[in-house]
Amino acid sequence: MIIGLPREVKNNEYRVGLVPAGVHSLALDGHQVLVQKGAGDGSGFTDVEYENAGAVLLSSAKEVFDRSDMIVKVKEPVEEEYDRLKERQILFTYLHLAPAPQLTRALLSKKIIGIAYETIPDRRGTLPLLTPMSEVAGRMSIHVGAFYLQKTNGGRGNLLGGVPGVQPSTVVIIGGGIVGTNAAKVACGMGARVIIMDIDPERMRQLDDIFYGRAETRMSHPYNIAEMVSQADVVIGAVLIPGAEAPKLVTRRMLSTMKRGSVIVDVAVDQGGCFETTRPTTHSDPVFEVDGVVHYCVANMPGAVPRTSTLALTNATFPYVSRLARGLSAALKKDPLISEGINVYEGEVTCKPVAEAQGLPYRPVAELLAKA
Ligand SMILES: NC(=O)c1ccc[n+]([C@@H]2O[C@H](COP(=O)([O-])OP(=O)(O)OC[C@H]3O[C@@H](n4cnc5c(N)ncnc54)[C@H](O)[C@@H]3O)[C@@H](O)[C@H]2O)c1
Repeated sequence: MIIGLPREVKNNEYRVGLVPAGVHSLALDGHQVLVQKGAGDGSGFTDVEYENAGAVLLSSAKEVFDRSDMIVKVKEPVEEEYDRLKERQILFTYLHLAPAPQLTRALLSKKIIGIAYETIPDRRGTLPLLTPMSEVAGRMSIHVGAFYLQKTNGGRGNLLGGVPGVQPSTVVIIGGGIVGTNAAKVACGMGARVIIMDIDPERMRQLDDIFYGRAETRMSHPYNIAEMVSQADVVIGAVLIPGAEAPKLVTRRMLSTMKRGSVIVDVAVDQGGCFETTRPTTHSDPVFEVDGVVHYCVANMPGAVPRTSTLALTNATFPYVSRLARGLSAALKKDPLISEGINVYEGEVTCKPVAEAQGLPYRPVAELLAKA
């Protein structure tokens, strides 16, 4: 198969869909990989590294799209990329189609086979191509919290871990899933007092086993949340109700009881956020203040650490790229769950939530594949 790797063009996107190690494996399997010059620059991978791994370097994105059977990307195509897509091409990337009717139309009209990272499940029912970004954002949330706690950055002037004879800062993490657990690991490592809140008793049992008393757990309900945020120096928003907007768990009233100069990092901002005062911010203007509390609400936190994020993402995506490179039907035979990633197939919407969100007809992909 001919596999194309274009440079990402979305604003502030520095990740890349394949690293040189992936290109090397694909080349060993007999595939040809076309890489747009500079595709890996943002993540610190040079053209020479791709070339040495066996890639053919091309100057323009147009050439990469024109000549490839499958395009591997990170972010959904932006408008300037719509025309570059080639009829019936496989597109493997994050797609997030439900709120994107224009992109959906573009993919349908080009009869693209659009396979979305975010809807491929594994056998346990988790989403393995989303997990690495939650790990990155969770760990990073504590660096960010520690940074904005500094007086010089608008915070209270606490060191996260304290020092001998001086109490550590209190970090309250609302939501003990992937983001929450990774935040707790870093916060414990930096010496903070850590409290993780969740609504799932079974999850809290697991957390108790993982942290063995080093982090406390609390049931998440308004009474406990009000008490914990009033004690907190840093609060991490890490809840997720799959498919739904995040619940507003920290109200404006609760916020007014927080210490001046304390810090909120609302990682769940991409689902609307779990603080009443959350609004999305960007890496170029990441924080704002309400009631003297610093709010950090960047929706694409992993974008700030593209080297780590690219490696983490491609560790998870590469096995799928490798399977898809053998052809869609061979890939589906090996891993039938890949079919749940197919959001659009040759002019039809094959992902129910996307069809429902946009009022378009839904066709089960199995039906279409049976005819192919
Ligand atoms: N901002 C970013 O850059 C970025 C990056 C990665 C992930 N995220 C977002 O972070 C959020 C968390 O992702 P995740 O992978 O950790 O999800 P997850 O499903 O692994 O964990 C979510 C946890 O929230 C808990 N929860 C649900 N309702 C709750 C409530 N009312 N109170 C307390 N806990 C509750 C669940 O029981 C679960 O343990 C998601 O919105 C995700 O999209 C954002």
